[in-house]
Amino acid sequence: MPHCNTLIRNVTVIDGSGSEPQGANVAIVEDRIGEIGKLDGYTAEHIVDGSGKVLAPGFIDVHTHDDLYLIRNPEMLPKLSQGVTTVIVGNCGISAAPVQLSGELPDPMNLLGEANAFCFPSFAGYVAAVNEARPAVNVAALVGHTSLRNNHMDRLDRAANPSEIPRMRVRLQESLDQGALGLSSGLAYLSANSASTEEVMALAEPLAKAGAIYTTHLRSETDTVLDAMDEAFRIGLRAKVPVVISHLKCAGLDNWGRAGEVLQSLDKAISRQDVGCDCYPYAASSSTLDLRQVDDRITITITWSNQHPEMAGQTLSQIAHTWDVSQIEAARRLQPAGAIYHSISEDDMRSILRHPTTMIGSDGLPNDPLPHPRLWGTFPRVLGYYSRDQGLFSISEAIRKMTGLPAQRFGLTRRGLIREGYNADLVLFDPERVRDAATFDYPTRASQGIDAVWVNGMLSYRNQASTGQRAGRFLPRQAPVSKS
Ligand code: ZN
Ligand code: CU
Repeated sequence: MPHCNTLIRNVTVIDGSGSEPQGANVAIVEDRIGEIGKLDGYTAEHIVDGSGKVLAPGFIDVHTHDDLYLIRNPEMLPKLSQGVTTVIVGNCGISAAPVQLSGELPDPMNLLGEANAFCFPSFAGYVAAVNEARPAVNVAALVGHTSLRNNHMDRLDRAANPSEIPRMRVRLQESLDQGALGLSSGLAYLSANSASTEEVMALAEPLAKAGAIYTTHLRSETDTVLDAMDEAFRIGLRAKVPVVISHLKCAGLDNWGRAGEVLQSLDKAISRQDVGCDCYPYAASSSTLDLRQVDDRITITITWSNQHPEMAGQTLSQIAHTWDVSQIEAARRLQPAGAIYHSISEDDMRSILRHPTTMIGSDGLPNDPLPHPRLWGTFPRVLGYYSRDQGLFSISEAIRKMTGLPAQRFGLTRRGLIREGYNADLVLFDPERVRDAATFDYPTRASQGIDAVWVNGMLSYRNQASTGQRAGRFLPRQAPVSKS
């Protein structure tokens, strides 16, 4: 009689490919998905009744800053509670490795943790630390351009010179050899803004041979967003590598309504090269406090401040009023600080979220004491609010954007689909009840309707709580990233 560890019966399978939901029984055998089908006569140690529930591949959060958080907090509840089973770290040009600090932690590397947490001069050292921490979710990692600049440059407000670029390349190549997925950049940030396009092109050059990828927080997400997209596409074309535009948006009041132009530019690029993007389902962004983004017409909430921690949770306008100064002056006094900017149009965000090439990425900031709710709410918000309640796209399409598409884009083999022989990263949820509960006022509330999460075959989350099992793995770069 065939036997399996866990048998999920009478469940609606949404397999991650975008195909229609199908009724089935699914067997988990050790860390793999066993048979899928009728499975009559199977015996199992655990039988789960899936009636009325959906079984999907575990969600892949393609855009995270969990690099150091997951080592200190391997339970990874902000993500596991959403059904996320894999996180990609090292985005926006900032990665925990390879990093050697001498002096101040450059902005925005301070989003990842305190200076003393950066103790991985080599990528291999980071991989070993992840394996030792045994996080509850799988981890794959990019190498940050700003991190590389930090290692080899005395100051970051200039372009790298011809002797620094080869040194950065050596560290990048070493990291690729040790399993990094590719290179990320954060050209909008002042620590990388002075880098020339040629500097990034030179660094992107070794990616193609390694089958690696280039992801980018664009040089601009505001007025000159189209130029910034062109720059990213040119880097991809020159280096012959796939490009992912991180958290694609058009930000700032003056750019509301420009999603059409942005998507037209994206579609044009897709017709000639391998390009994708990710997006979080909120009309507000969050990062370190950037004086260039201070605008009296939008609401900016301060989430932390080194100089004035007592102001966390207040808006910049309230703080300016209390101090009887302008908002820009208040912002100067708060630095360094973190902020949430309500500067995106809901309609633009929806258009970008709906685009077929768009993956879901939370961009959550786990070290922020008052984080943007995307950290705890992104995936259930897409499933519940945007797909079910608002009808923005079908539930199969929502799941494809968080599973099959990202697995293919980042070359995560045997993940992202429900197929026999694939790793058993699975989430069981109630399609009627699934919803995000984190809000801007209560940002750390766990989502609802996520019934069970398996990571590599281990039941890791159940009844709104971690089971204590932590079965995540470090995922070195595998298959070359491929066109989706
Ligand atoms: Zn970013
Ligand atoms: Cu980011």
